[in-house]
Amino acid sequence: MAKSWVNSWTDSAERIGADLHLDLSEPSGASGSGGRRAALTRALRDAVREGRLAPGTRLPPYRSLAADLGVARNTVADAYAELVAEGWLTARQGSGTRVAERAEPLRRAERVPRRTAQVPPRTRGPRHDLRQGTPDASAFPRAAWLASYRRALQQAPNEVFGPGDPAGRVELREALTEYLARARGVRTEPGRIVICSGFGHALRLLFGQDRSQDKGGGCAVLRGPLAVEAYGLGFHRELLAAAGVRTVPLPLDEDGARVDRLGRERAALLTPAHQFPTGGPLHPERRAAVLDWARARGGVILEDDYDGEFRYDRKPVGAVQGLDPERVIFIGSVSKSLSPAVRLGWMVLPERYVDDALAAKGEREAWASVLDQLCLADFIASGAYDRHVRRMRQRYRSRRDRLVAALATHAPHIEVTGVAAGLHAVLRLPPGTERSTVKAATWQGIALDGLAEFRHPAATEPDMPVRDGIVVGYATPSEHAYGAALEALCGVLPPPGE
Ligand SMILES: Cc1ncc(COP(=O)(O)O)c(C=O)c1O
Repeated sequence: MAKSWVNSWTDSAERIGADLHLDLSEPSGASGSGGRRAALTRALRDAVREGRLAPGTRLPPYRSLAADLGVARNTVADAYAELVAEGWLTARQGSGTRVAERAEPLRRAERVPRRTAQVPPRTRGPRHDLRQGTPDASAFPRAAWLASYRRALQQAPNEVFGPGDPAGRVELREALTEYLARARGVRTEPGRIVICSGFGHALRLLFGQDRSQDKGGGCAVLRGPLAVEAYGLGFHRELLAAAGVRTVPLPLDEDGARVDRLGRERAALLTPAHQFPTGGPLHPERRAAVLDWARARGGVILEDDYDGEFRYDRKPVGAVQGLDPERVIFIGSVSKSLSPAVRLGWMVLPERYVDDALAAKGEREAWASVLDQLCLADFIASGAYDRHVRRMRQRYRSRRDRLVAALATHAPHIEVTGVAAGLHAVLRLPPGTERSTVKAATWQGIALDGLAEFRHPAATEPDMPVRDGIVVGYATPSEHAYGAALEALCGVLPPPGE
């Protein structure tokens, strides 16, 4: 079928004036009424998506468009119905079929996950950013950070400006030793800490660099296969895959990872304080059981303490590392507490891994700015870090409370999973509604992820505590934008019984 210029739709009373070019050429092999319907649906969808058909535009009656295009009336009716179901068009008795009045869809470039290697520059963000992963950027403690930077720079000896120690500045390792013991129950000493640029970097150091660039696989401290939770950050799985590490999904239930299902792996990556992203803590019996497993197998636990400081129900759990420092590599960073832009993190290592971790880092500090390390050391030692975390804890607790209250009022059938903690929450949705909810959110200019994004590709259904859900990063918007984001979110949740 050929291309068609459809201008008989023009109706001066309506918002149509320009000719509309519909390209109905069919992909090879697609012929017949099914092929024509698909081609028309695609052409109309493209016209709306590209803005050639503006919101509110009234579409021609089935009969006239069918005549214009030389297709059956039902072909047009089916195409309209499909686009109504997808949310591109609306159909109301008496006012015909129109292009939906809605937020502009996000551009493709803006939907690229933030964690891919080549992120195109963002031209415009979503109206409501509820993606997990970032703290409230408007709350970065600029003045206190600047004061720490100034002090650090004034006091820094000249050797600071030479090549850095791959272990990291001793001032920072000392400050972390004290802070992590006090705040997270970590048992260590500065000599067991290696500074890095964040959790992802820690994984790279431990498992070797990208195999495609380094045929030897780097000087890996650990080897796979690695047990990981059935839900986790895809970026971390990709990074491990690039290092040639096979990951094996561990099922999850309400008590966290099923550590009784650990098999022949020698290492397990867990988020014990707050399972990412489903939100439950690892049950105390499982904390003990996983350590027994590590002792029995000569294995090691990688403890990802990505948001351990943010617990709101007065039941904080300390690090598993504190129970057996020789069986756990504890990894943290400032990405949630301060900002992922700072790019500073730490590994607290069992004695036997320290030398290999330092060797993996190289002869000099090539990753984490030494000046930033000194600044963070001052920031922690001066008490500014504690003050900031306390302030943010209050803010995020109130955000989570507001989310729970809004759901209780507007969508009482939607449940928040997990404990009151962290910077995000998973909302459990009625079965089969995850994709349509994420789509509806996109249409309303709300950026968020469905739970499926986080599922290990080899995980099976019984491995999952929640099937359909969305992950809501309630910390991400600035304070003034949060109310509107919440309201918009409630507007796209599926109704009860769907
Ligand atoms: C599960 C999880 N682990 C770790 C991190 C920290 O990553 P990084 O320190 O590389 O920014 C994040 C993101 O902030 C995360 O979501």
